[in-house]
Amino acid sequence: MAVGTALAAGWLGCASSSGGDAPGEPPAMTYAWRLPIGMPVPLVPRDNPMSEAKVELGRRLFYDSRLSGNQSFSCASCHQQALAFTDGKPRAVGSTGEVHPRATMSLANVAYNRSFNWGDPEKRRLEEQMLVPMFATEPVELGLAGLEEELVRRLMADAVYPQLFAAAYPSQPAPISVDTVVAAIASFERTLVSGDSAYDRLLFWGDDSEFSSAARRGMELFFSERTNCGRCHASFNLSGAIEFEGAAPVRPDFHNTGLYNLDGRGAYPERNRGVFEFTGKANDMGRFRPPSLRNIEVTAPYMHDGSIATLDAVIDHYAAGGRAGKDHPLKSDLVKGFEIDDGEKADLVEFLRSLTDRQFLSDERYSNPFSGLPDSDRDAERRGVARSLLR
Ligand code: HEC
Ligand code: HEC
Repeated sequence: MAVGTALAAGWLGCASSSGGDAPGEPPAMTYAWRLPIGMPVPLVPRDNPMSEAKVELGRRLFYDSRLSGNQSFSCASCHQQALAFTDGKPRAVGSTGEVHPRATMSLANVAYNRSFNWGDPEKRRLEEQMLVPMFATEPVELGLAGLEEELVRRLMADAVYPQLFAAAYPSQPAPISVDTVVAAIASFERTLVSGDSAYDRLLFWGDDSEFSSAARRGMELFFSERTNCGRCHASFNLSGAIEFEGAAPVRPDFHNTGLYNLDGRGAYPERNRGVFEFTGKANDMGRFRPPSLRNIEVTAPYMHDGSIATLDAVIDHYAAGGRAGKDHPLKSDLVKGFEIDDGEKADLVEFLRSLTDRQFLSDERYSNPFSGLPDSDRDAERRGVARSLLR
């Protein structure tokens, strides 16, 4: 417990200093975040300040299948709230049935990430990241490439979007555009903060009533030098590099955990070679970002390619010093392998389960705004274009 508490206290210490807003800009604090106790204020880009109107609009767009070429898919088709905004699949499947090389990532606490996607050192803003699922063609996710004007037409034809966009972007003469869609969804994503797990209650509220003694033993293992888990899955977010208001800037970090060694020289499978795909540098082969372990209990299967089915098996991978064998030329020194008995393994899993935030998984603020409607209306909502044309 001492280690976890010290870590969290360190991060909180940073969070209390003031942010770096430009003169004349409203500070991000003016938006009422309603963050769980202990969670710092996310950094917000100056050109996309938070507002209630944008968040509500973004939530609607996130769940709206008009955002795919064939109107069958939304962000939420892959990012489902009950699964901490993952999809339960080893690898994502797009709106036209194409299989993505990698697994859908959780969106819990994305606002704090220093970089986005599994092994992409270049995506630093949610607004940039989103262009991938919207417009990418290899593979197709939402399949909106070339349909930018069609998307705007669909939204303009809707009964409520014109008012919602006007309210969210009052100073824009033509408030419905790809840019405003992206900005609104990013604002919604920044509100997806998870920090009400049994672990948080212990850490920030001093309440250990939901934190079992097994979880406590598991926590000690997690932060121990034997396992090194907490060295890479660090901070209150149990993740790689993060940023938030007042925190000192850090670089994104990527590590090779020794999942593959196809040629004896550390090769990973084509298209899934991590940072190497971007830099072409030999040392970047297989380097991926340590994702947050919050809600990890509900986001199986695991790893960038969904190739590990259970938390038990994830621990086996690390205990072996990497699934691909101890003598991996490119593996991180922190994945050196360790002895662990079945009881300790169960404790470690119990700690990982203490990171589940049930409130987050069912919070109405993040839920599908269309799902409260009767079926007939919901269909009509989804087929907004057809309906407005018929009228
Ligand atoms: C076909 C399924 C699918 C759809 C649809 C989809 N995503 Fe994703 N999402 C993924 C996958 C797969 C990844 C990991 C991508 C990678 O690493 O290359 C991901 C990653 C992300 C990330 C990065 C999370 C992190 O921690 O770095 C964000 C943010 C995100 N998606 C938001 C969205 C938004 C917003 C939409 C709708 C505009 C959307 N996604 C639509 C599958 C999907
Ligand atoms: C060297 C840094 C490092 C260490 C040490 C480390 N991890 Fe990881 N962890 C990562 C990276 C990087 C990934 C993503 C790897 C990939 O997909 O190829 C990851 C992925 C995971 C995942 C899957 C996450 C998901 O969303 O699919 C779990 C669970 C996990 N680690 C738990 C642990 C535990 C438990 C330990 C200690 C036994 C540990 N990690 C030690 C860096 C590390």
